[in-house]
Amino acid sequence: MKPKRTLVGLPVYQPGKPLEEVKRELGLSEVIKLASNENPFGCSPKVWESLKEEESFTAMYPEGLAPELREELAGHLGVAPSKLIFGNGSDEVVQMIARTFMEPGDEAVMADITFPRYKTQTVIEGGTPVEVPLKNGVHDLKGMARAITERTRIVWICNPNNPTGTIIRREELESFLAEVPEDVLVVMDEAYHEYVDDPSYPDTVSLLDRDPRLIVLRTFSKIYGLAAFRIGYGVAAEAVVTELNKVREPFNANRLAQRAALAALGDQDFVRRCFEANRDGMKQIQSQLDEWGLPHFPSQGNFLLLDTGRPAEEVFQCLLRKGVIVRSGAALGYPTHLRVTIGNEKQNERFLDELAQCLGKRRD
Ligand SMILES: Cc1ncc(COP(=O)(O)O)c(C=O)c1O
Repeated sequence: MKPKRTLVGLPVYQPGKPLEEVKRELGLSEVIKLASNENPFGCSPKVWESLKEEESFTAMYPEGLAPELREELAGHLGVAPSKLIFGNGSDEVVQMIARTFMEPGDEAVMADITFPRYKTQTVIEGGTPVEVPLKNGVHDLKGMARAITERTRIVWICNPNNPTGTIIRREELESFLAEVPEDVLVVMDEAYHEYVDDPSYPDTVSLLDRDPRLIVLRTFSKIYGLAAFRIGYGVAAEAVVTELNKVREPFNANRLAQRAALAALGDQDFVRRCFEANRDGMKQIQSQLDEWGLPHFPSQGNFLLLDTGRPAEEVFQCLLRKGVIVRSGAALGYPTHLRVTIGNEKQNERFLDELAQCLGKRRD
């Protein structure tokens, strides 16, 4: 057995530790998971009502192009339905983009440190990832523009950036786009778009009309709370979508996922409530960290990267033993940081209580 050359040395992706696994391994019953930026409020109750309608269709393939969801989402975003492509999570859209546009030897520019799938998919396609260090946790767009060569096919921008949560602003993006050659695609991964409350955050979907190089990625896994169903999407010029459709698996967005996403989209009240709860939870955690003097990046997502000042793995293990799963910064390139998902109020309290114990801090 000989895998393709590009897989040599490629690590297997390590996701956040699953809740069930930690319960089993540590014999704990009260475990909370704040490790994968999932929605602590689940999804809209409308999702389960609408799934009942699928009961009699389980033996049938889904419609590959997700026509109902496509129409509804296009209306919601104010774009033509032909500009949408769905994936088995936005993860799959990342894969489709690399598969469609990268030839061996091509380059893709991305931040260091950012969401790891851009790099992995580039490597699998035989491309070269060109990583430009973040500046204070923020994408260095000037540095990224300088890193573009005649071999560059794609620039990946994660906005808000995972794991720092920082954003790049409209003007910064526009001046960057003015420097990017016409044949280079710019992928804006906006998995956490719905959590952002900074008014200078760019409205990339409206930029698409005049800039056919843009691909905007979003997902139903985060604020819509449908990570289990695996459905995300890209918005791009029709010519780009046509090419992506050539590599798309025919039934990639499954029937239940399409139905669930349609129902979730229809419950914007739920989305608004989650947005507000996240903003409150973010303040709840940040104000305690500020009191302790623990630095953290200014996050616009549903997670926070904080500096414990100790080896991350040690603090991660300590929290784990107490039944709180977070993400160790060690695996993310921040050896003294933790990335914690903003939970509900009770979960945030529990996290702060246990963190206080692990770090020897007081809580008043
Ligand atoms: C920045 C970013 N992009 C994409 C994804 C993938 O999301 P999904 O495949 O669930 O849509 C994630 C998941 O954590 C993410 O953080």
